[in-house]
Amino acid sequence: MKIKIQSKINSSDSIVIIPVFEDNKKSLPKTFPASAKKFIKEIVASDEFEAKFGETIFTYNSAKDLAKKMLVIGMGESEKMDSLIARKIGGKIGKFLKSKKISEATILTTDETLEYSPQMLEGLLTSQYDLAKYKTKDKKNKEKKYELKAVNFVTESKAKGLKKDLEAAEIIANSSHMVKDLVNGPSNKINEAYMVTLARKIAKENKYKIIVLGDKELKKMKWGGLLAVNQGSSSQARCVVLEYNGGKSGEKPVTIVGKGMLFDAGGYNLKPTGYMETMQQDMAGAATVLGVFASLKKLGIKKNVVGIMPLAENMVSENAYKPSDIITMFSGKNVEITNTDAEGRLILADGITYATQLKPKNIITIATLTGAVGVALGSRYAGLLSNDDELSKEITEAGNRVDELVWRLPIHDDYRKRLDSKYADFKNCDITSREVGTSSAAAFLEKFVEDNKWAHLDIGGTAFTKDPQDFETESATAHGMRVLLAYLD
Ligand code: BES
Ligand code: MN
Ligand code: ZN
Repeated sequence: MKIKIQSKINSSDSIVIIPVFEDNKKSLPKTFPASAKKFIKEIVASDEFEAKFGETIFTYNSAKDLAKKMLVIGMGESEKMDSLIARKIGGKIGKFLKSKKISEATILTTDETLEYSPQMLEGLLTSQYDLAKYKTKDKKNKEKKYELKAVNFVTESKAKGLKKDLEAAEIIANSSHMVKDLVNGPSNKINEAYMVTLARKIAKENKYKIIVLGDKELKKMKWGGLLAVNQGSSSQARCVVLEYNGGKSGEKPVTIVGKGMLFDAGGYNLKPTGYMETMQQDMAGAATVLGVFASLKKLGIKKNVVGIMPLAENMVSENAYKPSDIITMFSGKNVEITNTDAEGRLILADGITYATQLKPKNIITIATLTGAVGVALGSRYAGLLSNDDELSKEITEAGNRVDELVWRLPIHDDYRKRLDSKYADFKNCDITSREVGTSSAAAFLEKFVEDNKWAHLDIGGTAFTKDPQDFETESATAHGMRVLLAYLD
């Protein structure tokens, strides 16, 4: 993908995208080409175009100062212009280009839109995500696959840093495509071996340190939670650790632990039809960590970061772990298994224990941990649970900056008590009540963080959606990756 900043429309440009605000539609920017102004004034006078948000007019023309094709896009009221509007407009432009198979676009900027060009580009690029990765090409239909090749922004001003910000937007969009491929991809393809190979590739490209633990090492180190959950799988359990040193040497690392449940059938507490079909998504936490690492070096982020990805599969088999089992975790604590479908917390807990051994700055967990968080917050806000107000605030603000929202939920002492066990140190799940599922799952994780600052993002409602935003596509969203990158930036 080529990204260019140019001072005027070039004769080779194939389509010009012209943003028009509702309140400015009669006094268009001086920088707009004369024939575009004439055209827009005419359609505005005819009342056929109000420039409401998302309204479009697409037409061919022969004017010399334009391209052959022109898309006029309504931006709504100028005072409402912000980064989210830019992302949405970018998404709308992107989906339009894709529908028309137009592979190069030149976007005019105005005083209101210029500063939001990176967000517009990011929305445009993320909207291009292709869900049909596994459709084989029809041999009779020789038509070439559509691909967006170039986006140009037209501005007369020398916007400082714009090029770099546009390039960052592309890096982030590419990483989010990767995350989506992992989360959408089925678990027979996106298995532990695939994840390990990809992590090694990312490590090599960016010169990160990598550690890959398999069954043998995990047994030796006594990762009891991760191994118990994976007992029913015919593949081995894994934990992949990536280390990026962008900060000062000796500076404590931010550690990010991502749930990598390659498939969550529920185990003996089997998920019913209607709940199991999309459970290839249950490794979205680990996929997000990989997405973060695919971006860190390229974005030049100046922090030390360790990513920890426990990988397992929660299956039914004669070897699978069972309700009533008592397992000894990597931390040494004993956990009574009351529900094998509350498995994510078990593999994360062992990952957290590993993080504590690194004497980290803090520990961030990210996981499709509960369905309950989607009931509470829907698919716009990820749940945030934390033992530290400042870290919570930083993560919330990071999310707000990049329009990827999180909302803090509480952990009450009485919710913590729901995990008390008669037989062991505690149980993995409160099976007497369906209340506060997200809080009690987080309360379980909290038992392993020791005295570290910890924040947990539950992306169970946001990682995979039927209700995409303009700059998203249905299914995987990569929600959480941009929050983490903004927090680390
Ligand atoms: N992976 C699921 C949570 C989930 C459900 C994520 C739907 C995304 C969409 C998790 O392992 C799970 O099964 N959680 C149970 C918890 C219950 C057993 C306490 C749930 O949410 O029903
Ligand atoms: Mn489960
Ligand atoms: Zn799960």
